[in-house]
Formats: sequence, structure tokens, C-alpha cells
Amino acid sequence: MNRINMAFFLSLIPAFTLSVVIFCGAVAARGDVLELGDADFDYLAAEHETMLVKFYAPWCGHCKKLAPDFETAASRLKGTVPLAKVDCTASPDTCGRFGVTGYPTLKIFRNGEDSSSYDGPRSADGIVHYMKKQAGPNSVTLRSEADVEAFVNHFDASVVGFFSGPDSAQLAEFLKAAGAMRDHFRFAHTINMTLGLKHGVDTESVLLFRPPRLSGKFEESVLRFTETITTHTLRRFIRDNIFGMCPHLTNENRDKLKGQDLLTAYYDLDYLRNPKGSNYWRNRVMKVGYQFASQGLSFAVANRRDFVDELEEEFGLGASDGGDLPFVTIRTRQGFKYTMREEFTRDGKSLERFLEDYFAGRLKRYIKSEPIPEKNKGPVKVVVAESFEEIVNDPEKDVLIEFYAPWCGHCKSLEPKYKELAEQLYSDPNIVIAKMDATANDVPQGFDVQGFPTIYFARADKKDQPKRYEGAREVKDFIKYLKREASHIPVVSGVREDL
Ligand SMILES: *[C@@H]1O[C@H](CO)[C@@H](O)[C@H](O)[C@H]1NC(C)=O
Repeated sequence: MNRINMAFFLSLIPAFTLSVVIFCGAVAARGDVLELGDADFDYLAAEHETMLVKFYAPWCGHCKKLAPDFETAASRLKGTVPLAKVDCTASPDTCGRFGVTGYPTLKIFRNGEDSSSYDGPRSADGIVHYMKKQAGPNSVTLRSEADVEAFVNHFDASVVGFFSGPDSAQLAEFLKAAGAMRDHFRFAHTINMTLGLKHGVDTESVLLFRPPRLSGKFEESVLRFTETITTHTLRRFIRDNIFGMCPHLTNENRDKLKGQDLLTAYYDLDYLRNPKGSNYWRNRVMKVGYQFASQGLSFAVANRRDFVDELEEEFGLGASDGGDLPFVTIRTRQGFKYTMREEFTRDGKSLERFLEDYFAGRLKRYIKSEPIPEKNKGPVKVVVAESFEEIVNDPEKDVLIEFYAPWCGHCKSLEPKYKELAEQLYSDPNIVIAKMDATANDVPQGFDVQGFPTIYFARADKKDQPKRYEGAREVKDFIKYLKREASHIPVVSGVREDL
């Protein structure tokens, strides 16, 4: 029975039977995920200030994959934020009303209203972390000094507004800003100005408290916002100041730290079990970083275990490399990567040398690359990161380059056609048909590879503007494209083309 028939069928069942059906559904419910449906959605959803709802279909694979994590998260969030699910095959009206078109769809409801789509992570941990932030008001009301202490004594930074009374115009602006930014930062306010005295506040203002575990002698841990409050000014202030000199990089905040040239020291950082040891190395990074602070490089520390896959994948770090000492990398906003080869010395001198070399342009970029193949005589030229410049950016040649992944099915079906294309053009001295395993080699700047295969054409006289090939993937389509785009008329020697 499809969805429409099902809805029609349900509408024929007399109301009393329907209530029995729902009752049975409730009995069948397991775990801490609420089951909502057409009959009770509005009624039950309205009871909860904040609720995460999963719209799903029993047959959907992604839904099945999500289910255990969703259950676990529901148990852990019990009493904080309820998690609910709606089976769209049984409750098509509800799903239709909220514009559900794919499964699973996750939405956050506030007091029964569709508030926003859920764009957080889908692991149990991720859901818990994300939804905890969603719970409660946009800005927490603080009434006592103890409230203030408890709020700012947190893993993440805190933004606290001090206002003269409930009618303060600046308070209204603050609450508006908090509503707009609550997904990213933590907000609280008080209307008792006495609470600000301890922090040197005697007129209405906003303070940014950096996480207490990161406070130290190198910088202020509390900053005062002095402009007139608008969402715009407050956002800029928070963004510019929240991280300070050397934040703790985590999987949660990493995206916010992208877009700058960043040096990161990875070690067994653990602020829960070993705050002293964690700050020991951080202080060393800061002490050296301080001398270079004005030169446009940002600094961070991170738990190596959190990033071990990435360090292996992108910086070629072996699991046992570096031992207990911090492993230092730099990644620029352009995507250039550097690693500190020298051991991190306790006096900080090796880090200082590394930074001097970096700013003097003496460092060699770290490039992930397979070895350059000794023989490369096949029709399709094998390119690796280290031979990319020589082959793909050869100013004498038009080059078609396929970025593939060994596990990708579309790449495998392209392979024989791509080879035939290369064979047909083999006698053309101006055209190179090439491929690179983009999982084993860094893809250079200017080539945007999100899916596989991705194909680019780098024309002989336009190496700085490689063009993405968007056409169909039959041999004749490639040839047609090259006839149009190539810098010379292609020499096609294959028989088929002549037919
Ligand atoms: C404001 O806070 C101070 C210090 O905690 C407290 O003594 C005072 O009673 C509070 N005033 C109001 C109106 O709550």
C-alpha cells in the first residue's frame, strides 16, 4: 500500500478504531524516543519548549543507520530535550505539512512550531552536544553571583550581558542577537547591575568570558564589549575575540577556525584529567607564538587522538611518530601544509626556528603524494601530486585530468572509455589524457574535487584557469569537447571516429 492509499484507508477508519490503533502504537514504543503521528503530533509537540523530530520511513537505509544513535541520544537527553520520530508511511499528513521530501529529515520544534532544520552531526555524541545547546532560552537569566560563576565556568566561552532592568533597550537588542547566534555561542544576561561590580562593570555592558581552563598570563580572559549592541556589532566582537591567542581546537569548533593560517600543536591534551599538563605545552606554544603574533599566523592546541585520522591522511604522520611531544603543523588558508620535523623542545627553541623558517619562506611544503611511477608508458598518463606540475601544467600540452578514487563505481565504469579515448588520441603530441588517485595525492589549488570522478581540462595556454569537464562520459563526447576546447585540432587516429 503506498502513502496515499494508506492515508485514504486511515481516513475511512472510524475514530474509535483509530484511537485503538494509536494506543497499540504507544504500547509498542521502545526506548526514549517519542512516537508521534498525524493524530497527536500538534497536541504533543506543543508541550515541549524544544524538541528534535526525526521524520522517517521504515524502509529507508539511512534511517536505519541513524536509529541506534538517535535512541542513545534520546536516552542521554532525557529530561533535557525530548527526541521524537514520525513514521511518514503511517502519518503522511504530518510529514506533508512540514515539507518532508526525503528521509530521514530532522527538524527542531519549539512549542510545537517548526523552528529550524537540524544541521548538526548525526552521531549520538553529536546530537547530544548540539541539542543541549538548543535547549532552554536564547539567553539564560542570571540572578545571583553564583549563577554568573556557574555560567561562565564552562568548557566553551560565555557572553554575558549586564542590564539595568527588564525594559532596557540594549537588553532587547541583546536578546535578539542571542536568538540569532545561539547555535554558535552561549548567552546569558542579568538585570541586576550589582552582579557586574565584581567584574568591573558599572554601566550596561556585555562581557565575553573565555573558557576558564584557558586563562593565563598571556592575555585577558574577560573582554568588554563597548559598542552599541546590534546583532551585527556583537557578532563581529565575538568572532574577533572568542578564541584568543591559542584556542583549544576540537571537532566542534574547527570549522570556525578555518579560513586563517593556523599553527596547531597536537599532543595528549586533556583538560578533564590533566589540565596542568595540557596547559604546560599550550603555554610553550603561546610563549613562542607571542613573538610572532603580529605576523598573521593563528595558533591552536588540540588533542592528538581527536585528529589522528586527519594527521595520518593529510600530514603523513604515523601512529607512533612524535611520541609524547607535541606534533606541530601549519595549514594556510590556501591549503598549503607544513610540518615541524624537529622535535618540540621544552625551551621552545625548535618551535621558534620552525616559525622563523616559515616566515622566511624557507620551509618545504608537505605534499601528500604517491611515488612518481617509474614507467608511465600507458595511454592514460598516471599523475601523482609530485608530478602534477610537470605533467598537468606543462605549457605545451592540453591535458584532460581525471581525479578518481579507487573505490568509486562511476570511476570504474569510466575507466575503459577513458582508456579508449587515450588510445584514440595517442598519436596526438599536444594532448595528454591523465588520471590521478585523489585519495592518495593532494589535489592542487584551483581544482575543486568534491565527488568522483571529477574531470578537468587544463588547456596549454590557460594553465591558470583549468576548466571542469561537465559533459557526458562517452568517448565521442570527450572528443567533441576536445575538438571545441583544445588549443590545436586533435589528431584522432581511432577507427571508430572515422566511421
Ligand atoms: C542583586 O544582587 C545582589 C548581589 O547578589 C543582591 O544582594 C540583591 O538582592 C540583588 N537585587 C535584586 C533586586 O535581586
